[in-house]
Amino acid sequence: MSDSGTIWLPEGASSIAPEFDALFYFVFWVSVVIFVGVVATMLYFAYKYRRKNPSERPEPVEENTAVEVSWVVIPTILVLIVFTWGFQTYVNMGTSSPEAYEIRVEGYQWGWDFEYPNGVETVNELHVPKDRPVRLTMTSQDVIHSFFIPAFRAHYSVLPNRRTTMWFEPTEEGTYTAYCNEYCGTQHAQMLADVHVHPQDEFEDRLAEAGEPVDLPLPELGARLHEQRCQQCHSIDGSDGVGPTFAGLFGRDRPLQDGRTVEADEDYIRNMIIAPTEMVVEGYPEGVMPSFANLDEREIEGLIEYIKTLDEEE
Ligand code: CUA
Repeated sequence: MSDSGTIWLPEGASSIAPEFDALFYFVFWVSVVIFVGVVATMLYFAYKYRRKNPSERPEPVEENTAVEVSWVVIPTILVLIVFTWGFQTYVNMGTSSPEAYEIRVEGYQWGWDFEYPNGVETVNELHVPKDRPVRLTMTSQDVIHSFFIPAFRAHYSVLPNRRTTMWFEPTEEGTYTAYCNEYCGTQHAQMLADVHVHPQDEFEDRLAEAGEPVDLPLPELGARLHEQRCQQCHSIDGSDGVGPTFAGLFGRDRPLQDGRTVEADEDYIRNMIIAPTEMVVEGYPEGVMPSFANLDEREIEGLIEYIKTLDEEE
């Protein structure tokens, strides 16, 4: 840990922290200067223009164009600076590198499961490599949670039936705390996770020590589910069945019956599994596919990962 932070912000340990903190302190110091200026002027005028004897009547007030223009123009400029700066930072916080190391997060009452690309799982402790962008793909088993790592200035909601993502790039080795930041029941305050940042050359070893292999890695879980639930209608060899083939499906543009075209990304596949009647692909019968909303989050994620592995057959 680089420093212990200030009374306003904890220590910063990610690539976005300097930008985030600079914006915070800009707003903070501008507010301090305005507050002190307004209060000091108010006290001075209250003293200077106080009523000096009971018969005194105030002079009529003349308008002062320079003062009126300045109290419109200066705050407008300040607000525009904060908006453009804040918007830029917001975009940076929301845009992760395609090469990011991807970790699956599942929140539940009351804890966190983390699943890594090598098929290892940790509970209530997150292991990440230093100086490498990390993307968390998050879902909830039950109610709304929120994953918050103050030291990384990283924070996003974790919702049932929807995947959300957030990213950060740790810049300091050490152990930090992640909080649930959405009130989710009696143990909400204990819904914590330790975040361990390791040097890149040690990361795989440390993760292997801390984690347990999952019973069935996501793509294999997806393959098994496909065999049990999907293969009657969806082939994996490119041939057309009752429904479209899964081969080469991921990332392709899908023309819908209602005229829209959507890309078959993770959210599209998730929606098709849970609510297949909402987006029927052109050329296929409506209302044939049942909803598979009874699959749990990991099973849906498994199917998505499995479909990603299926290239189009030539
Ligand atoms: Cu989970 Cu609060």
